Amino acid sequence: MTASIIDGKKISQHIRETIEERVTALKQSGITPGLAVVLVGNNQASKTYVSMKEKACKKHGIHSALIRLDEDITERGLLDKVAELNEDPAIHGILVQLPLPSHINETNVIESIDPSKDVDGFHPINAGRLMTGGDGFVPCTPYGIIEMLKFENIALSGAHAVIVGRSNIVGKPMGQLLLKENATVTYCHSKTKNLAFHTKQADILIAAVGIKELITNDHIKEGAVVIDVGMNRDDEGKLCGDVDFQGCRSKAHAITPVPGGVGPMTITMLLANTVQSAEKHVV
Ligand code: GUN
Repeated sequence: MTASIIDGKKISQHIRETIEERVTALKQSGITPGLAVVLVGNNQASKTYVSMKEKACKKHGIHSALIRLDEDITERGLLDKVAELNEDPAIHGILVQLPLPSHINETNVIESIDPSKDVDGFHPINAGRLMTGGDGFVPCTPYGIIEMLKFENIALSGAHAVIVGRSNIVGKPMGQLLLKENATVTYCHSKTKNLAFHTKQADILIAAVGIKELITNDHIKEGAVVIDVGMNRDDEGKLCGDVDFQGCRSKAHAITPVPGGVGPMTITMLLANTVQSAEKHVV
């Protein structure tokens, strides 16, 4: 079997067309959706991600405000900035790019964002709503993966999904979303013993552990769907995932590439969450 490649760019494009229609409708109601992105310090990867987010907003008619703060800003200074954005009626979504410098407590910052503007879905209120079935913001990467699987008509109900990774940003919410779709969910992580035993059970394998090409041909069963969330650099500095793409391609039913798989979906769902937030203001 040679796996089909799940094209995140194509699926993103499709979803972005509906986002554009929603932005147009909002503007007709006098509302321009607005996203504030807060970047602290000079982390190169963060700068790149933030500029991609800004560009995507501009392209689709969403107002974006980039707030750059010095590496040595105090936690109080950052909390005050977030408080200001919480009160700003032109801003419907607030994203504080992570990681933050080590002298700032990330939890305090995340918890200071108004949950109704928390388009990252990281606030405990939104995480709790996801767990209890309420209506909140869903973290963009797992949200994008669910949309991808649905777009590809991959059966989720009753499927065994194995997630490798347990971060608050991807692994944990991914499991909740898959449970909601009636999948059977197994969590694995960097300390799991006999990883291949578990991953070989997967109808759908989600690799989100941040270890370069950890998942090889020997970790998957014939016909599995393999989703690679990894964003690692190889020895030559080239972007690579958590999955050995070439090795797994000969065995899987469908697989996402890196780049061009999950990455574009994450930004697309950030736009979707920002629009969803703005739509709450339509009277
Ligand atoms: N850093 C890496 N991914 C993310 C993300 O999705 N949101 C934020 N705020 N920071 C990140």
